[in-house]
Amino acid sequence: MTYGETAVRQTVDRLLRDHRDLDAAADGALDSLDQFHIGGAGAVELLIPTLALTPGDVVLDVGSGFGGPARQIARRTGNHVVGIDITPSYVDAARDLTARAGLGDLVQFRAGDIAGFQPDPPFDAAITMHVQMNVRDKTTWFRHIAERLAPGARLALWEVCQPHQADLPWPMPWSLDGTDSFVVSADTLLGSVKDAGFTEVEWTNESTWVQGWITRTFADGLPAGPALPMLLDDGYTRVINYATALADGSLEVWRGCFTKDADQA
Ligand SMILES: C[S@@+](CC[C@H](N)C(=O)[O-])C[C@H]1O[C@@H](n2cnc3c(N)ncnc32)[C@H](O)[C@@H]1O
Repeated sequence: MTYGETAVRQTVDRLLRDHRDLDAAADGALDSLDQFHIGGAGAVELLIPTLALTPGDVVLDVGSGFGGPARQIARRTGNHVVGIDITPSYVDAARDLTARAGLGDLVQFRAGDIAGFQPDPPFDAAITMHVQMNVRDKTTWFRHIAERLAPGARLALWEVCQPHQADLPWPMPWSLDGTDSFVVSADTLLGSVKDAGFTEVEWTNESTWVQGWITRTFADGLPAGPALPMLLDDGYTRVINYATALADGSLEVWRGCFTKDADQA
């Protein structure tokens, strides 16, 4: 089962004990560990300005994983961020890392499905990074996100798309065997987001940026210290397969910015 790692917090604890030189509270110290998408912290930096946040805005992170993006947004902007994720052990790790970072006042996480989440008041902005590939009915899922946002709120996406139908090498970061993978083309994904009640501000193929990021990040081999694959079952194979599919064009990475339509409830 993908996302079946049950002892993530314990693994984080062991990795940090093995690397006592690392200050988990320092900005960027855990970027190699807690950003569960291609492009790392740099990808989050691309999304932050598109959210057009103002003081007091509260941001929703859907499928928040280990919480790296949520903490980064809070650090950069001072805004409150709420992450929601369906994997309880990931939420447990995200809370632990947030406490270690001293960001507990700004960043909270909850375990569950966006469909059953009833925030009051609605959020002022949202992000979701590398999650919709696990969702079969994307329009309904994005509609659930829209329902949790204020009219005019921004939604920023960082997404994997598949330009042509082709067999992918499994396992991938979001699926161990392909049975829970629902990757679609950029056009199809864009249609689902719009059908859910969002208006496009920007929809950009960032695959070239991603290739540059991979080259820069791994130019001298694997980064030293705790790294994301150490938290995942078959982690290194998943990351290598993903990088290979991006390099040969089987997969692309798209960045989106949308606003929730004013007439959406
Ligand atoms: C590849 S990780 C990305 C995590 C995070 N967004 C990041 O970029 O660091 C995908 C995450 O989506 C979560 N997920 C998968 N399907 C979901 C759903 N329907 N609702 C909420 N979270 C989901 C998984 O538990 C996992 O934490």
